[in-house]
Amino acid sequence: MNKIFITRPLPPEVLKKAKTLGEVTFRSLTSPLTTMEMTEALQNFDIILPTLGDLFSESIFQKVTKIRCKLLANFGAGYNHIAVEAAKEKGVIVTNTPGVLTDATADIALTLMLMTARRAGEGERLLRKGKWEGWHPTQMLGYHVSGKIAAIIGMGRIGQAIAHRCHFGFGMDIIYNSRSSKNLDFPATYFQNVEEATKKGDVVFIAVPGGKATRHLINRRIFSTMKSHSILVNISRGDVIAEIDLIEALKKGDIGGAGLDVYEFEPKIPEGLLEMENVTLFPHLGSASLEIRTEMGMMALANIVNFLNGKSPPNLV
Ligand code: DGY
Repeated sequence: MNKIFITRPLPPEVLKKAKTLGEVTFRSLTSPLTTMEMTEALQNFDIILPTLGDLFSESIFQKVTKIRCKLLANFGAGYNHIAVEAAKEKGVIVTNTPGVLTDATADIALTLMLMTARRAGEGERLLRKGKWEGWHPTQMLGYHVSGKIAAIIGMGRIGQAIAHRCHFGFGMDIIYNSRSSKNLDFPATYFQNVEEATKKGDVVFIAVPGGKATRHLINRRIFSTMKSHSILVNISRGDVIAEIDLIEALKKGDIGGAGLDVYEFEPKIPEGLLEMENVTLFPHLGSASLEIRTEMGMMALANIVNFLNGKSPPNLV
């Protein structure tokens, strides 16, 4: 019987289905795997279902001998925590769960935009502290996003879902940067250069995949050319933004605010961000709804089922 290891608690429906697939070991901790746990898992299981934070780095694959594992069926669309090429060299293939979380993640991006632009977090904090003295015409004036320019960096599935919402929901003009221009079902202007797009955006959304190629893509140089009222929203991976440069840009007023769902050193949030009122901070909520997390789990299991049936898993990366 195939031995399967699931590295985190998952929604009940997913666990129920998983039990039917083989001899399954469920890890009850919510923390990422330690190096020792990863080593043992690679040696003792045929299939591992890992997720964000389980750092299957190049060095793990280089160091571990007698690898039994043949499939890492990642729970999540992003897989920058897995050294895919190093895994393949050791005969371990990798799958992910794209698509099902697109709308949920775009919704969180829009929530971050609105909360930051309209100072919603700040307002709620004020009220909960008992400091609200009542309505008046110049109280807590925020930024009106309707009709403004949304710059989308990364026009993949999630970038397009964000753009769609911004255009059809808020009448925003869409400009974007991605590796190539796309055929889109809404009007949008393509810029080949990141900075050309970021400097024109009133709201700048980061929706590129994480990984070496995009690390610190958004940095001091980019911030220095952005509009001083602009809002930066990141729902991709934390290290796409140089966090120290972001804090400096916010302090200097190079940009007007930020809405962040992800952080460079998750779950550590720098003090500099925590103390700022013009920043909205979420604990990586992108796909966090029961329906979506269930669909992600079912998709990871479907990859496993295909693999067990000798077929190529549908979401091979
Ligand atoms: C994803 O699917 O990439 C989410 O960020 C969780 O990893």
